[in-house]
Amino acid sequence: MTFLESLPRPFFALAPMDDVTDTVFRQVMANYAKPDLFFTEFVNVDGLQSPGRPHLLPKLKVSDKEKPVIAQLWGLKPENFYKTTKELAGMGFDGVDLNMGCPVRTVVKNGACAALINNRELASEIIEATRKGAGDSLPVSVKTRVGFTTVDMSWIEFLLSKKLDMLSIHGRTAKQMSKVQADWELIGRAAGLRDSLSPTTLIVGNGDVLNRQQGAELANKHGLDGIMVGRGVFHDPLVFDPESPWQQWDKGQKLCLFVKHIELFTKTYRNAERKFEPLRKFCKTYINGFDGAAELRAEFMETKSPEQALKLLKEQLA
Ligand SMILES: Cc1cc2nc3c(=O)[nH]c(=O)nc-3n(C[C@H](O)[C@H](O)[C@H](O)COP(=O)(O)O)c2cc1C
Repeated sequence: MTFLESLPRPFFALAPMDDVTDTVFRQVMANYAKPDLFFTEFVNVDGLQSPGRPHLLPKLKVSDKEKPVIAQLWGLKPENFYKTTKELAGMGFDGVDLNMGCPVRTVVKNGACAALINNRELASEIIEATRKGAGDSLPVSVKTRVGFTTVDMSWIEFLLSKKLDMLSIHGRTAKQMSKVQADWELIGRAAGLRDSLSPTTLIVGNGDVLNRQQGAELANKHGLDGIMVGRGVFHDPLVFDPESPWQQWDKGQKLCLFVKHIELFTKTYRNAERKFEPLRKFCKTYINGFDGAAELRAEFMETKSPEQALKLLKEQLA
């Protein structure tokens, strides 16, 4: 019995997104419209267990507000998954997730993430090492896609044979990147396989969900335990609110929230622990849907530091 059992059905999870779902954004979400479950960005275990560790630790910052929270790991060496997983409970995490779906070329060409779809021996070793590190204290899950170049349900069957606590499935192949619509029928087929192969594994569907109602309908239709929302947060950072007021928010409300986000960023990451540039990913989210938004976005993109960004936004609010 893990904490996953006590989540609502369907539960709504914030997807892991590199340079997006850090502790700062997770806290913003927790304050305004909290998902039932958080994931971190993916964190490289081989880097964490190397002299480069201090550069990666900011990705594992977490506060009590962002609960429950699962750390997502990626890498190549099973022993580093083991060592890292052993550390996670003490760092405040509630679970460990293995990235077996990221299709980015630099990652895949080294044999990690989605490349594991074609290397089941290593995938197996990584899952076993992680399970050993997790012991009885953390549930172990995998996030993946429905195949590498073509749909390959034998991969899903293989993962189900590992009796994971949870399996999150993005309804595209790695080759498809994000270029076509996610195929929820395939996610539904995976849930059917679960029923016969590993009834205790929770199945989470992912891909193109933009609001809770749509997610709940997909979960009901396909027999899923949970729904994971990624880019939907860029359209509506309050997406986890069943009655999100985001579309009614005015310029002042949106910019105020952006200011809070950036202020928390500066408070959280002292000494330039994290770069400012990725914060620009949120520009189109907060600076949107009001007169003059496009011009303000262009000005924001010229800013080079949180201080400059805050000055610009506060001038607009004055
Ligand atoms: C900017 C960005 C960063 C991402 N980083 C990760 C990551 O670190 N780990 C992961 O498993 N998936 C990552 N993804 C994929 C998302 O978790 C999700 O599977 C994908 O965006 C499809 O879901 P969506 O249509 O709800 O966005 C990332 C996606 C985006 C857009």
